[in-house]
Amino acid sequence: MNAATEGFSLQGRSALVIGGGSGIGREIALGYRRAGAKVLLAGRRAERLLAVAEELRAAAGPADGSAGDGPRLAYPADARASGALAELAATVAADHGTPDILVNCQGTTAIKPALELSEAEYDTILDTNLKSVFFACTAFAPGMLARGDGRIVNITSLAAHTGWANAAAYSASKWGVAGITQSLAAEWGEGGVRVNAIAPGFFMTELNRERMPEARKAEARRRSAMRRMGELSELVGAAIFLASDAAAFVNGATLRVDGGYLASGI
Ligand SMILES: NC(=O)c1ccc[n+]([C@@H]2O[C@H](COP(=O)([O-])OP(=O)(O)OC[C@H]3O[C@@H](n4cnc5c(N)ncnc54)[C@H](OP(=O)(O)O)[C@@H]3O)[C@@H](O)[C@H]2O)c1
Repeated sequence: MNAATEGFSLQGRSALVIGGGSGIGREIALGYRRAGAKVLLAGRRAERLLAVAEELRAAAGPADGSAGDGPRLAYPADARASGALAELAATVAADHGTPDILVNCQGTTAIKPALELSEAEYDTILDTNLKSVFFACTAFAPGMLARGDGRIVNITSLAAHTGWANAAAYSASKWGVAGITQSLAAEWGEGGVRVNAIAPGFFMTELNRERMPEARKAEARRRSAMRRMGELSELVGAAIFLASDAAAFVNGATLRVDGGYLASGI
């Protein structure tokens, strides 16, 4: 590494990725590990977290504190409950100290007409995608503010920038995360805690592989200026950047990683 790129290193940093057991969160977790960070994982399915924890350990060097059987890396938790997030923050802090980096990658969706969405489905989407982000941020921020340094990366969506037919509740949740990102950036910037977001374009994961009808997938490709979906590896650089010292004065920003979807008109 040379002087021009060392700001992008996460060496010596610790990160917690909520939603790190699959899809985008797993990819970011492995990318952070490769960038030098100790990476912890949270989500509901313990077996998925343990599987990714094994991948993280395999990627760790022998002299690294997270190699071998080593300390605990996987923290099963349901992020919809603020109490579970408070407990998660306390347990992680006791095991490793408050992480330098928090990634909120938890999420769910339902693709169906607004007129058919039940109150229970609406609540599940808003609690998983929005409420959880607020309370994860407020659970981990005190430790970060006490240290005078913290980096939070929230995963929003193109649906935080445009309206989405058949995904109104998802869109509402992601507009909400965009608002939380900017508001907490404004509130905590002085305390050294930066809060930014990534708005991914379309990436085939458990979230949408089965849920998106073929016609909607084709439309997503057509609307991207690059005429394709993204590869998960193409999100990692943005996530490392926002968590790194290279982004020391980047606060309240949303980085769009969408192949030019939002840039395109006609
Ligand atoms: N794929 C895309 O094209 C795309 C585009 C824009 C934004 N996003 C966003 O990217 C994020 C990750 O989605 P993905 O595409 O990678 O799909 P995914 O593989 O389904 O990831 C969602 C993750 O959220 C976790 N999660 C869900 N509910 C949770 C809860 N109550 N508590 C804790 N963790 C929970 C899941 O783990 P458990 O089920 O084990 O809890 C899972 O690991 C989501 O916020 C999604 O909205 C995705």
